Amino acid sequence: MGYKIQVYTKSVAETISIGRSLGRILSSGDVVCLTGELGAGKTYFVKGLAGGLGVIGIRGKGVTSPTFIIIREYKGRLPLYHIDLYRIGVVEDLRDIGMEEVIYGRGVTAIEWAERIADRLPDERIEITLRYEDKKTRLIEMTAFGRHHTQVLKKTAGELEKIADKR
Ligand SMILES: Nc1ncnc2c1ncn2[C@@H]1O[C@H](COP(=O)(O)OP(=O)(O)OP(=O)(O)O)[C@@H](O)[C@H]1O
Ligand SMILES: [Mg+2]
Repeated sequence: MGYKIQVYTKSVAETISIGRSLGRILSSGDVVCLTGELGAGKTYFVKGLAGGLGVIGIRGKGVTSPTFIIIREYKGRLPLYHIDLYRIGVVEDLRDIGMEEVIYGRGVTAIEWAERIADRLPDERIEITLRYEDKKTRLIEMTAFGRHHTQVLKKTAGELEKIADKR
């Protein structure tokens, strides 16, 4: 089933901070799959991931929603590949758009609208589901699949608890 944690966020800043906590712990080859309706906060979460991976402002704007570009690469402590499948109709073959190479490569991959390729996601991954609760509140559910990603998520949960304790 997978190891699962849930956190509520009450602001964009908090969502970024949660992403950052995970980003600090991610390692080479890790895959983060994001699901959630339009405006749920997937891109802000990835912005946090990027921060935690040491990505610094690209073109002055940092990580923005890659609307037409399907895969964007950012340089941090590890390369971050940000994939957004929103505009893509049907993905016939992950190899066609260079996705397979990225997902099974040495960087960290974050995929928005990952459910579009649900049947082809790697067995080892972290799934992030963001649910709209109200204007400023989101429920973030994180589920890890595979031993390594479970360790990563457990460590992240520990960090999130430390942050919560300080409040
Ligand atoms: N707690 C919160 N966390 C994240 N975003 C929030 C939160 N509260 C309000 N928002 C708003 O929700 C929107 C989230 O935008 P974002 O681009 O991250 O969504 P998305 O899931 O990537 O959408 P899309 O499917 O269009 O790519 C922003 O307008 C942001 O201001
Ligand atoms: Mg987005």
